[in-house]
Amino acid sequence: MEITIRPYKSEDTQAILDIINYNILNSTALYDYNIRTFEQQKNILEEKISKQFPVIVAAVDGIAMGFGMYSEFRFREAYKFTVEHSVYVNESHHGKGIGKMLLQELIELAKKQKLHTMIAVIDSENQSSVEFHEKFGFKTVGIIKESGYKFDRWLHSVFMQLILDKK
Ligand SMILES: CC(C)(COP(=O)(O)OP(=O)(O)OC[C@H]1O[C@@H](n2cnc3c(N)ncnc32)[C@H](O)[C@@H]1OP(=O)(O)O)[C@@H](O)C(=O)NCCC(=O)NCCS
Repeated sequence: MEITIRPYKSEDTQAILDIINYNILNSTALYDYNIRTFEQQKNILEEKISKQFPVIVAAVDGIAMGFGMYSEFRFREAYKFTVEHSVYVNESHHGKGIGKMLLQELIELAKKQKLHTMIAVIDSENQSSVEFHEKFGFKTVGIIKESGYKFDRWLHSVFMQLILDKK
């Protein structure tokens, strides 16, 4: 199995859409109710790139089996050194180190862009993602209780933070 981390190309859109829509339908990782169309997902990815934010994929034998990206945490100017990221790996390839490769690369890119801190917003039921982020030094800095409602239950958002350039 050859895994390559590289920038997103438009040909990756369908593979990314498949991962996103799987998670919308089957998990609380995404707080959407409805699956996205190809056009919607393509626009989301292209908008990030147009703002100079990275979108990267993990290609396994040429096919995108995971992706990662970051963009604004909030929109006011003073937030400009803070980004919120996400990392997703196709169900069929969990636990093979792909998520680690993607998050490592996002952290390197954020440092190169002279950003100061990265935030992950993770559903509290998604304990594997919390543990995954802890391995990189992310700390839980807050939990917004009952901030989501999906699958007939309240969901809690865990905010995890990594400070990049400690001085
Ligand atoms: C979270 C996610 C990105 C991890 O990617 P992955 O490729 O499966 O993870 P890796 O194989 O790189 O594992 C990295 C570490 O995370 C931890 N981890 C991964 N899956 C785990 C699980 N199910 N339970 C506990 N820890 C887990 C492992 O401890 C592993 O460290 P190790 O190699 O030292 O054992 C992936 O499971 C995923 O896409 N989940 C659904 C979407 C999601 O929740 N994204 C995060 C929102 S920002």
